[in-house]
Amino acid sequence: TRTILIGAPIDSGQRRPGCLMGPAAFRVAGIAAAIRELGHEVTDWGDLALTDVPAATCSNPAVDQLPETLAWTGLLTEKVDDALSAGAMPVILGGDHSLALGSVAGAALHARRVGRPLFLLWLDAHSDFHTPMTTTSGNLHGTPVAYIAGRDGFDAFPAFPQPIPPSRICLYGIRSVDPAEHAALLRHDLAINDMRVLDEQGIVAPLRAFLSKVHEAGGLLHVSLDVDFLDPSIAPAVGTTVPGGTTFREAHLVMELLHESGLVTSLDLVELNPFLDDRGRTAKLMVDLVGSLMGKKVFDRPTRSYA
Ligand code: ARG
Ligand code: MN
Ligand code: MN
Ligand code: MN
Repeated sequence: TRTILIGAPIDSGQRRPGCLMGPAAFRVAGIAAAIRELGHEVTDWGDLALTDVPAATCSNPAVDQLPETLAWTGLLTEKVDDALSAGAMPVILGGDHSLALGSVAGAALHARRVGRPLFLLWLDAHSDFHTPMTTTSGNLHGTPVAYIAGRDGFDAFPAFPQPIPPSRICLYGIRSVDPAEHAALLRHDLAINDMRVLDEQGIVAPLRAFLSKVHEAGGLLHVSLDVDFLDPSIAPAVGTTVPGGTTFREAHLVMELLHESGLVTSLDLVELNPFLDDRGRTAKLMVDLVGSLMGKKVFDRPTRSYA
């Protein structure tokens, strides 16, 4: 696989500074070498930067840093579409989760052009299903899934190119959902694999079920990995820790299954706040997980195929 690293030093989707150092921490933790060692070609496009930030407002005064987030959304849409169109797998080094407003829009543009359905796997403690109208925190990192699913309330944003039907979206690992998100989730049929489901069914079956759907539809698959998907005891470098996250072993198994599926076409690595890290352990763990997703295994036995 040809991989393109895209640095997205974004802090505008939430209020705790530090995610803008994420791309640097991923590079220091050796992300390029980790992918290259597995036999893939890696190109690093460096860090994106905003050239201008047009003024913008929306009717909910709680919304924070809307102009910056809009500008990042436009830039990432373009760059992720470019990387996919070049035949590569973009890996977006965040940056807070608001970057997915743009990265998934770019993947959707590309999917529309090639006439294939786009699916979304959201690995996160949070559902991120607010709209700019329902958010109480005002932090736009809590909104991308709603934008991607085509919910109303994004008047300030460009229309999402070909919204992903909720039935093609899988939330996985969630354990923190605000009341307005909960009400909206009940009205949309996303696959909701919250921690209750994963505790009861294990982490393999629900993921395989979703991957089979992607495979059968001949879909593209965007994976958005939020650091808080992981348990805070192993991944402390995130501003929105929620107890009860996935373990080291569970997270690696998820990544191995994703590799085995051969379906992943684009990837976000988000919410890493290196200022909160403990000697780089969270950055290193994230890089290790990317290794598993890109094909690193303990023992090279024949794998289960989705073909
Ligand atoms: N639901 C909360 C909010 O809207 C938390 C969102 C956390 N999102 C994230 N990408 N970490 O503020
Ligand atoms: Mn900020
Ligand atoms: Mn998130
Ligand atoms: Mn989260």
